[in-house]
Amino acid sequence: MKHITIAIDGPAAAGKGTLSRRLAETYGFYHLDTGLTYRATAKALLDAGLPFDDEAVAEKMALEVDLAGLDRAVLAKHEIGEAASKIAVMPSVRRALVEAQRAFSRKTPGTVLDGRDIGTVVCPDAAVKLYVTASPEVRARRRYDEIVASGQAADYDAIVADVKTRDDRDMNRVDSPLKPADDAVLLDTSEMGIEAAFQAAKRIVDAALNRN
Ligand code: C5P
Repeated sequence: MKHITIAIDGPAAAGKGTLSRRLAETYGFYHLDTGLTYRATAKALLDAGLPFDDEAVAEKMALEVDLAGLDRAVLAKHEIGEAASKIAVMPSVRRALVEAQRAFSRKTPGTVLDGRDIGTVVCPDAAVKLYVTASPEVRARRRYDEIVASGQAADYDAIVADVKTRDDRDMNRVDSPLKPADDAVLLDTSEMGIEAAFQAAKRIVDAALNRN
């Protein structure tokens, strides 16, 4: 079988992470959540007390990110996600991280990468491209339920506002804005549970792999 990359893009909390992990397990591929690379860069700046408006400093941190050491539990925090979307507008930060992500994407027998610009910039030749989305209200509700299930208090309206601010920043930046690749298949999970969304994603991937 030739090397395969599955590119999964979409806004925050659309379900890409869960779908990507399950697809990677199903096909025996390596998985990279590229959002964690932006988060790790942001966390390094936060931890060192460095400013967020110095692109050269942020680039240096991006070049030092170790893909093998990305820990979702440590990087999941809300403030880190916010900070990540701020440094993600910087072209030299993106160049450094994209290079590492591309190197990862070539692992055999195949890879699943999820993020915002995988199908458009990181892996434009991916065998399969999925754009996973859901309405801001549905995404905010999922995030709210997660927080409440973990025993913490959450404010639904604040989360909706937050999801929209992050979408706006990700979709309207100049370098690599979030948008579906021309050849991506759209999957709207607003009305789907995770199992139905996974089955739909798997059908799309199987159909694409059969064509390759
Ligand atoms: O997906 P996650 O919420 O972990 O991503 C954090 C931030 O990193 C996003 O809001 C986005 O600004 C940025 N990001 C990006 N390109 C990617 C993945 C994430 O710009 N491929």
